[in-house]
Amino acid sequence: MSNAISLATTTMNKQHILNRPEPDLNAIELSAINNIEWDEALITKYNVSGPRYTSYPTALSFQPNYSADDVQHAINNSANNTLSLYIHIPFCHQLCYYCGCNKVITRHQHKADQYLDFLIEELTQQAPNFSHYTINQLHFGGGTPTFLTDEQMIRIMKAINAAFTLHKTAEVSIEIDPRSLRPSSLCLLKKLGFNRISIGIQDFNPDVQQAVNREQSYEQIAALFEQARALQFDSVNADFIYGLPHQTPESFKKSIDMLLDLSPDRVSVFNYAHLPERFAAQRKIDSHALPSPSHKLMMFKNTIQQMTQAGYQYIGIDHFAKKDDSLAIAQRKGNLHRNFQGYTTLKDSDLLGLGVSSISQIGSSIFQNEKQLKHYYKKLNEDASAVTVGLNLSKDDRIRAAVIKSLLCHSVLSMRKIEEQFNINFEQYFSDSLASIQPFITDELIQIIDRSIYITNKGRLFARMICTAFDAYISNTAQQQRYSRIL
Ligand SMILES: C[S@@+](CC[C@H](N)C(=O)[O-])C[C@H]1O[C@@H](n2cnc3c(N)ncnc32)[C@H](O)[C@@H]1O
Ligand code: SF4
Repeated sequence: MSNAISLATTTMNKQHILNRPEPDLNAIELSAINNIEWDEALITKYNVSGPRYTSYPTALSFQPNYSADDVQHAINNSANNTLSLYIHIPFCHQLCYYCGCNKVITRHQHKADQYLDFLIEELTQQAPNFSHYTINQLHFGGGTPTFLTDEQMIRIMKAINAAFTLHKTAEVSIEIDPRSLRPSSLCLLKKLGFNRISIGIQDFNPDVQQAVNREQSYEQIAALFEQARALQFDSVNADFIYGLPHQTPESFKKSIDMLLDLSPDRVSVFNYAHLPERFAAQRKIDSHALPSPSHKLMMFKNTIQQMTQAGYQYIGIDHFAKKDDSLAIAQRKGNLHRNFQGYTTLKDSDLLGLGVSSISQIGSSIFQNEKQLKHYYKKLNEDASAVTVGLNLSKDDRIRAAVIKSLLCHSVLSMRKIEEQFNINFEQYFSDSLASIQPFITDELIQIIDRSIYITNKGRLFARMICTAFDAYISNTAQQQRYSRIL
């Protein structure tokens, strides 16, 4: 049975589609973007597993033995001249049982000194290759970047500033675990040039926190938000997860309301990926305490409703932003992009990932560093490069990547634009894909109007699944079950 959750009527969005045979994404209204239709029968039918498409092809398709020469070739052939830098700090003090990130749990602070030795060596080696680039983004992710002491943080930032010149308007962001933050840390981060922070919260409910071994009080987090606002960080964001043990639709609703009181600029509400066979720590979670699939869905449905009613824009997948946030504006203007860090406003930017497990995307190449710390150290020692796997995108990969990006960022795909960009005949090139999306047309997840494919209000929740119809790898490799469920 169809059950609309909306700020506006469905008609408004249909109107919006019908009035625009050729996608002109300027000035799309928030109400049209937020008008998500929730259809239980379609969810039962289409809630499959699928990639989050932070890249196409995804990391599962990377090939071994990607060499330093391949990397150099990618850099030499890239037509881009802006760069986003990603720095991975893998350490955490304590294990959160749900965690699927690349991390190393340790209490030994000195391990980070050794890590910084290698990281600084890596970035110093790489920097000359990018001297002609403008660096418009620097992001610290993890693990927990705030594992670093003040001295360690100063050391790495000095090294980055010595090797690269950050543009004065660059977004400089960091992921923060509130439990690892010392009172002076936020001040220091501001002084070092950070202007955006992302706070790992997951849930405010003490029972949930205890079950996942991550206890942090609401007061602690509220104080952090207050301090970040007082220090005038441009953007204060939050991570939540739905599907954790002991969560109920009621308890999660309350936690989201508490979060909204703090007025974060952007919010990620991740679907908990419970894969205990892949992540040993998750075996510590009592599977009987996990919410049922129907309760999980209710949590996400409520979240969309709460966030959109509070004036946030549903960007897509697991992402929300305040309507005047740059990400939300970019989506309404048709300038949204997607890379390994998720949705972004940066267009045609290369991404250089430094540190263990980091992924880079340079021109038409994607490559990844060694994923285990000891291998990362060994590879850097032996080869002066930590890159181990990667892929040079073929023309077919680039065409499909453009199709998937357009659908995920803007819920629309102009066949004409893809034809102009890649000199193909869309209908011929994608005859198999167009045949496989017929059921989505029947079920009104998409509409094709004047050679543009529009994801409808009903289809927005299934955007990842719709994209798999244009993915040449997913059917070949039967890797689908390795991805998380879309809802
Ligand atoms: C690197 S952590 C954020 C920084 C810091 N380590 C922290 O936990 O506060 C990135 C985010 O990934 C999400 N995450 C981790 N494991 C997950 C899982 N199994 N399923 C869904 N989201 C997960 C959490 O929301 C977490 O905040
Ligand atoms: S969620 Fe964050 S703090 Fe917890 S183990 Fe994962 S990376 Fe570390």
